[in-house]
Amino acid sequence: MRDTDIRQRKQDHLTLCTSGEVQFRKRDTLLRDVHLVHQALPELADHDLDLGVTLAGRRLRAPLVIAGMTGGVAEAAAINQDLAAAAERLGLAFGLGSQRAMLRHPEVADTYQVRAVAPTTMVLANLGVVKARQMRTAEVRALCDAVGADALCLHLNVGMELVQDGGDRDFRGGVATIRRLEEELGLPVIVKETGCGLSRRAATTIAAAGVRTVDVGGAGGTSWVGVEATRAEDPQARAVGEVLWDWGIPTAASVAYCAEAGLEVIATGGIRDGYDVARALALGARAAGVAAPLLKAQREGGVEAVVAALETIIRTLRAVLLLCGCRTPTSLALAPRVVVGELRSWLEPGG
Ligand SMILES: Cc1cc2nc3c(=O)[nH]c(=O)nc-3n(C[C@H](O)[C@H](O)[C@H](O)COP(=O)(O)O)c2cc1C
Repeated sequence: MRDTDIRQRKQDHLTLCTSGEVQFRKRDTLLRDVHLVHQALPELADHDLDLGVTLAGRRLRAPLVIAGMTGGVAEAAAINQDLAAAAERLGLAFGLGSQRAMLRHPEVADTYQVRAVAPTTMVLANLGVVKARQMRTAEVRALCDAVGADALCLHLNVGMELVQDGGDRDFRGGVATIRRLEEELGLPVIVKETGCGLSRRAATTIAAAGVRTVDVGGAGGTSWVGVEATRAEDPQARAVGEVLWDWGIPTAASVAYCAEAGLEVIATGGIRDGYDVARALALGARAAGVAAPLLKAQREGGVEAVVAALETIIRTLRAVLLLCGCRTPTSLALAPRVVVGELRSWLEPGG
């Protein structure tokens, strides 16, 4: 990929993802197939609730991650700072977008700097596994240290790359790269899909490589195949992207697969409200991640709008916990639920 392209791509991503036109079209998260059962006698007070969880060894005040989005273009500096400041205020985790751009362009490194506004926040560095494969572990570590990261999100995005003009086409060596970084990086490695989800096979492979935490990046929210299909100039690439727009494993199914494999799970991809978060937690997630809606909030109203959006999610989650008679997010995993419809098929053995 030409370097000039990277920055234009980042700018296109911000514009397209805010437009709302690149969401999955027919496929959804299938979280709607999970019904948590109302408890009329919860025997709890709101002040009894404790939303805190531990994620990759760090304590969060609520089970929420601002999923990695941006960096490398001028506008990204304000976006990252507002998102990180919101995370700091609410005690949540914050993810940076891919740091590939700052590797070749040290002058854009400041668009990733958030420590001044988020001194105590859990900050997640971000790099694609294909790029990481070409780098020495010390170089990856330097990239993490340059932004004061607490963990590295190693992203997988085969679907998106295959549609992207000039995208990666060789995905060999991913597992070895994950294992190497898990062993040598000296920071937690979080393996992260970006909208196509992690299958049972991917989950067991990642767990066997020694990784503890994954972000499922499941289908049902922002479609990255859709983003690249919309951007593609080559008519064939656009046609492929149109056909595969809805490719991926629904977030709900992927959360269940990864939890089954014993992984600590972040449920990202189409999480839009506190009930989505609660249903993901019931399926075994430790926390949930939100991307596009928070970008939209930031662009509409800066840090205050991001905080307000997150507070609404948290308040809804508190309500659902109380309605289910659960004091903590982790206890939702044991709460009575009814699973119906298509999700049941995805959860059958062989799914
Ligand atoms: C504008 C934008 C840029 C993104 N860039 C990255 C990235 O650089 N690295 C990454 O791992 N994920 C990236 N993502 C993917 C998100 O982290 C997330 O997995 C995905 O958008 C699904 O969540 P959503 O449905 O809440 O948007 C990006 C998302 C958005 C909206």
